[in-house]
Amino acid sequence: MEREDKIYIAGHKGMVGSAIHRKLLGHGFHNFVLKSHKELDLTDQRAVEAFFAGERPDYVFLAAARVGGIAANIAAPVEFLLENLQIQCNVISSAYKYGVKKLMFLGSSCIYPKDAPQPLKEEYLMTGLLEPTNEGYAVAKITGLKLCEYYRKQYGADFISVMPCNLYGYYDNFDPEKSHIVPGLIRRFHEAKVSGRGSVAIWGSGRSYRELLFADEMADACVYLMEKYSGDGFVNIGYGKDYTVMEIAEAIRRTVGYEGEIITDPDRPEGMQRKVLDTSKLKALGWTPRYSLEEGLRMTYEWYVANCVRV
Ligand SMILES: NC(=O)c1ccc[n+]([C@@H]2O[C@H](COP(=O)([O-])OP(=O)(O)OC[C@H]3O[C@@H](n4cnc5c(N)ncnc54)[C@H](OP(=O)(O)O)[C@@H]3O)[C@@H](O)[C@H]2O)c1
Repeated sequence: MEREDKIYIAGHKGMVGSAIHRKLLGHGFHNFVLKSHKELDLTDQRAVEAFFAGERPDYVFLAAARVGGIAANIAAPVEFLLENLQIQCNVISSAYKYGVKKLMFLGSSCIYPKDAPQPLKEEYLMTGLLEPTNEGYAVAKITGLKLCEYYRKQYGADFISVMPCNLYGYYDNFDPEKSHIVPGLIRRFHEAKVSGRGSVAIWGSGRSYRELLFADEMADACVYLMEKYSGDGFVNIGYGKDYTVMEIAEAIRRTVGYEGEIITDPDRPEGMQRKVLDTSKLKALGWTPRYSLEEGLRMTYEWYVANCVRV
């Protein structure tokens, strides 16, 4: 990428899109074309095509998607499948039609079969059944990465895909019902600390494992791969180590400074038992994360207090 190249970040107001934007600005890129969801609905095929025809970006980061935690995915599988398919098909096909030099599609580690061996290697894709709680979302993501692979194979388009583990960071969704594990627990621990509540419940047994990566690290890996990788297959992006949900809850409790008890709520769904990515391919390409889980949690909590908490 040259500093003058025109870059479109789809989803630049979201957690990952905004991190990619900050990272590119930090590297000296300045020629951005950015549209919020309100300004450009990416499920609208005509609008997307008109946008690409008019703007003709050189590089595209596709970080727009309907995203949510377990409860949101269980409640709305139709929207998670349909909207994500529409966004991906519209953006990827228009990118090809209007001569985009390179596109990066952001998928998710939920593309892997629920019983696949751990850590999850890229070649385990489509070797078994998916986790039912987020199947619609996963099917959409598999279709997106396959579409990129087919564009490369059939038309020689330089379209690549990356599959991140669970992410957390600035601009995350801190909604108590719709959020992922880290923002959900940050909010619940913070509110319990402020109100003096004696305990906070975590969903499920606390014994399932999660791998977490700070979104700014994810953005760093995305920019790195956009500049350095043009291979056939997709690339896992992960932290390289996972923790039990109870260990994560303890780490967040310490970060927030909450002194009450953590209790489990076995009636709530807990999703996949384990989901840790094999990041050998990414390491071999020359990228490894810099921040520890504690550092990422501290930065995220500071951001939450400064931006989401009303005094
Ligand atoms: N968060 C994670 O843990 C995680 C893990 C693995 C992979 N990923 C992937 O990373 C990417 C970014 O996720 P994120 O966590 O940054 O999500 P996010 O914070 O919800 O950001 C998604 C962005 O996409 C926008 N968007 C949604 N539907 C749109 C539409 N129809 N037209 C235009 N814009 C639309 C949203 O705008 P509005 O908010 O205005 O709707 C938002 O700005 C996604 O592809 C996701 O699948 C995320």
